[in-house]
Amino acid sequence: MRQLERIAVLTSGGDAPGDCAAVRSVVRTACHFGLEVLGIEDGYSGLLDRHFRILDRMSVAGINALPGTVLGSAREPRMRQPSGPEVAAANLRDWNVDGLIIIGGNGSQAGAKLMDAHLPTVGVASTIDGDLGGADATIGFDTAVNTAMEAIDRLKATATSHRRVMVVQVMGRDSGYLALQTAMAAGVERLIVPEVPDNIPEIVKDAHEQLMGGKRHYIAVLAEGAKMDGELLVKELSAAGLDARFTNLGYVQRGGIPTAADRLLATRLGYEAVRRLLAGQRGGVMMMTHGRVKLTPFDIALVATPRVGPADVALVRAVS
Ligand code: F6P
Repeated sequence: MRQLERIAVLTSGGDAPGDCAAVRSVVRTACHFGLEVLGIEDGYSGLLDRHFRILDRMSVAGINALPGTVLGSAREPRMRQPSGPEVAAANLRDWNVDGLIIIGGNGSQAGAKLMDAHLPTVGVASTIDGDLGGADATIGFDTAVNTAMEAIDRLKATATSHRRVMVVQVMGRDSGYLALQTAMAAGVERLIVPEVPDNIPEIVKDAHEQLMGGKRHYIAVLAEGAKMDGELLVKELSAAGLDARFTNLGYVQRGGIPTAADRLLATRLGYEAVRRLLAGQRGGVMMMTHGRVKLTPFDIALVATPRVGPADVALVRAVS
């Protein structure tokens, strides 16, 4: 077997705070072990279009604290066509790449699985959604929770002043986990998630009762995946005589300065991804599982672990 000499790294899908720290860790570890590193720009788009540049130790200096990704990212539909992974692998062969590291969430790791059929590939779990199967946490999740929590603290201050209802939509795609952790950290009145059925009349009744009962604010955290229209909810709350506003935190949650927890996770996972490739391992995503760094096979990582249930919604309600 040919010894590993040159690896490539890319960041893909929705950027997550800590992606830069992961890139730094991969590059520095690879250089430490005598490997060359090819940086791929703009995710799978750059891989298909050969937007490559050599990364040395100093090229990643000072990026640990940066949000976003210095390599750039993209969502690339060409990777879903049969020719996509073949072209990508041929491009890497031409550049003498014998190992690949993909930093990203589930869409990116689905692409990584396809690439692993052509050359040794290891993923690094990175998404603000926290929804990769088997992962305790993913890179960017902690920062996103902190960003959303701080925003809700601010919204609560103005809501309290005006005796208002605030409906706050947070990201998470199909998962309510980001919403749950945000709701608990911010201490809100209601959590609306895809995993637990809810309905507008019940929410209106609850808001009414809590405000009539003496509360000066009612904050509802709405997960984007819940598929409830936040504007419509506010309309119904207003029709019931409540003063209500809607805020979608949106992409703000992706742009935060990475917390220490995310930098630490990124540094560990990036280091281990290189070491596993060097040890001849492949075919999975580096993640923290039950507090330990683990290479989880792609097929397991690609099925999100259910992390939110009625008991969580009840908890949020009980402490509100
Ligand atoms: O996966 C991260 C995420 O921010 C999700 O929470 C959200 O649903 C999605 O990406 C938005 O994707 P895009 O950046 O393509 O609009």
